[in-house]
Amino acid sequence: MPIDPPHLFPEHFVWGVATSAFQIEGASRAHGKGASIWDRFCAQPGAIADGSNGDVACDHYHRLEEDLDLIAALGVDAYRFSVSWPRVQPQGHGAWNERGLGFYERLVDGLLARGVKPYLTLNHWDLPQALQERGGWASRDTVQHFVDYALGVHARLGDRLAAITTHNEPWVIATLGHETGNFAPGLKSRATAAQVSHHLLLSHGLAVRALRAEGSRARLGIVLNLAPVHAATDREPDLARARLEDGRLVRWYMDPLFRGAYPDDVLAFLGADAPRVEPGDMGAIAAPMDFLGINYYSRTVASADGTWRAGGSGLALTDMGWEIYPPGLTELLLRLHRDWRLPPLYVKENGAAFRDELVDGRVHDHERVAYLAAHIAAVGDALAQGVPMAGYMVWSLLDNFEWASGYAKRFGLVHVDYATQRRTLKDSALWYRDFLQRQRARHAERALRREAA
Ligand code: FCB
Repeated sequence: MPIDPPHLFPEHFVWGVATSAFQIEGASRAHGKGASIWDRFCAQPGAIADGSNGDVACDHYHRLEEDLDLIAALGVDAYRFSVSWPRVQPQGHGAWNERGLGFYERLVDGLLARGVKPYLTLNHWDLPQALQERGGWASRDTVQHFVDYALGVHARLGDRLAAITTHNEPWVIATLGHETGNFAPGLKSRATAAQVSHHLLLSHGLAVRALRAEGSRARLGIVLNLAPVHAATDREPDLARARLEDGRLVRWYMDPLFRGAYPDDVLAFLGADAPRVEPGDMGAIAAPMDFLGINYYSRTVASADGTWRAGGSGLALTDMGWEIYPPGLTELLLRLHRDWRLPPLYVKENGAAFRDELVDGRVHDHERVAYLAAHIAAVGDALAQGVPMAGYMVWSLLDNFEWASGYAKRFGLVHVDYATQRRTLKDSALWYRDFLQRQRARHAERALRREAA
């Protein structure tokens, strides 16, 4: 029997589950959808561990109603999903695709009909391939295209959204997409990656400004993948490397967003690879936000001869090979609260891949339950110490396409049998549902006691 975190979370704390378009939708060419950079990347031999792609994925595009019912069955307050830009605007600029927009309209209305708040992400990595051919995120033109895309989605859906996230994990897009080349579009240049990170931040700030000018009622923010960066040893070269990694992963994004400047030490490290910044850019990036989203999976351990997420520490690992390190989440949240002036904070993704087995219609994923309970407790600890936490979302609703790892890594609360597309609630889904019910019951009990007093 799993142990719930002891904390009683605030009554209006937002509990959710998260997905992204490319990882679940499939229907990669249906109804006028354009190609994305991930469609293209998957076609490159060796790019995806199991040689798979997003053509079918969880077939969510065709199973929308069934999946909406699953979300409702979990009893969550919110569902975080992303819009596939090339599904609604196939070329990334110009003409809109009505059938694509109609899909997201049904999604949003279906959530509202079930009492679930829609949390929409504009960019969860699947840039239209047509824009990549014009330079992609390395080109300043993409910034304006993104603002236009944000306005178009907002015009259609904005009145029904609880929140709009501009970008998911700009560090991943810049670094894994353009510096190491592990992710789409698969480029390998530090200078390009730096320019991409600047254009992502700039397009975020300009989109926030434009959406505010439209009178957006949805709350506006960004989602960053952040982690505490620990040095592998106390030796100075390792400590120096940890400081640099903290600069590149955390401060490179937090400082411009909340202080309007890039960190000097990282600029010095980049030297000639530093991004071109035009007058007015930094002020635009620092546009006030309504929330900051954090994705947390593990800590980062840095050493002079390379950075790694796991290894040698003796800590248990997930199926991704990532250390299970819940105290890192409290440490990170406290540090963010200490070093920057923050709007309300959400954990927008947290979860783990394990080797789940479906036996007799059940998945006994007790490791995932333990992982989630420990990380939710870590959020509760941060809340108790004054961090303005407003919500927590599990990655992910469904097992899905885990980018370069393909379908072998399962993050879902719900198991997907890819041969039949049959969905099965894992034990973790049942635990999460029941945990939320127990939280609500504790609130109801308190209210009764208050009344009686
Ligand atoms: C995050 C991504 C998300 C998912 C998890 C495991 O970096 O935002 O799409 O793949 O990792």
